[in-house]
Amino acid sequence: MSTGEENNETLVKEEDLPEGIILREHVVDGIQEYDQRLPFWWLCILFGMITFSIIYWLVMDDRSYEGGNKASLEAKLEEVATARLANSIDVTNDKLFWEMASNPAFVSAGEAVYNTNCIACHGAELQGGIGFNLVDAEWVHGSKPSEVYVTISKGVLEKGMQAWEPLLGQKRVAEVVAFVLSKNPDLKPTE
Ligand code: HEC
Repeated sequence: MSTGEENNETLVKEEDLPEGIILREHVVDGIQEYDQRLPFWWLCILFGMITFSIIYWLVMDDRSYEGGNKASLEAKLEEVATARLANSIDVTNDKLFWEMASNPAFVSAGEAVYNTNCIACHGAELQGGIGFNLVDAEWVHGSKPSEVYVTISKGVLEKGMQAWEPLLGQKRVAEVVAFVLSKNPDLKPTE
């Protein structure tokens, strides 16, 4: 290893250099260093790339997954849940009725069934009239969803409520149960 001091005679001297070329002070292992401005073309590439990367980022960055996609994903999931519920109606399963009652597609289908078939006797607000109030805590024929289902599907013939299942079918009766459950503030899942 040699130092600058020892090999002074091999070092390039400032006065030997073309005009405008500056040498830095230090010498490391006999290696000297120019102190030059970076070439213009080189700087153009550097700052050009920086500018390009910023513009590229602003143009290409896809933020749609924040928000947009999430909403459509949730809509899809809900669709799947609705289809699964519709295909697995088990009218003895109270838990399943509660799932239906928290599914907007089921509840609005049930509301449509209610408005065409039940509103005349049970009222627009389910407040009752000829038929019983369906939004209070009083359940003459049982308050479990499966019991409400049986009441509606078999009716209370001697009191003037017909059996609805022969007319509406199982699915629409289940939907209207989901609608009633969603409206009644006193009915809650038991588990
Ligand atoms: C013609 C009138 C009439 C129509 C239409 C009618 N109901 Fe009723 N509903 C009644 C009457 C009357 C009772 C009370 C039966 C009794 O006294 O036990 C009743 C009772 C009920 C009960 C039992 C409430 C309890 O306390 O246990 C439910 C639930 C019910 N109806 C739901 C429905 C649904 C859902 C529909 C539409 C598909 C419907 N009803 C349509 C007259 C009607």
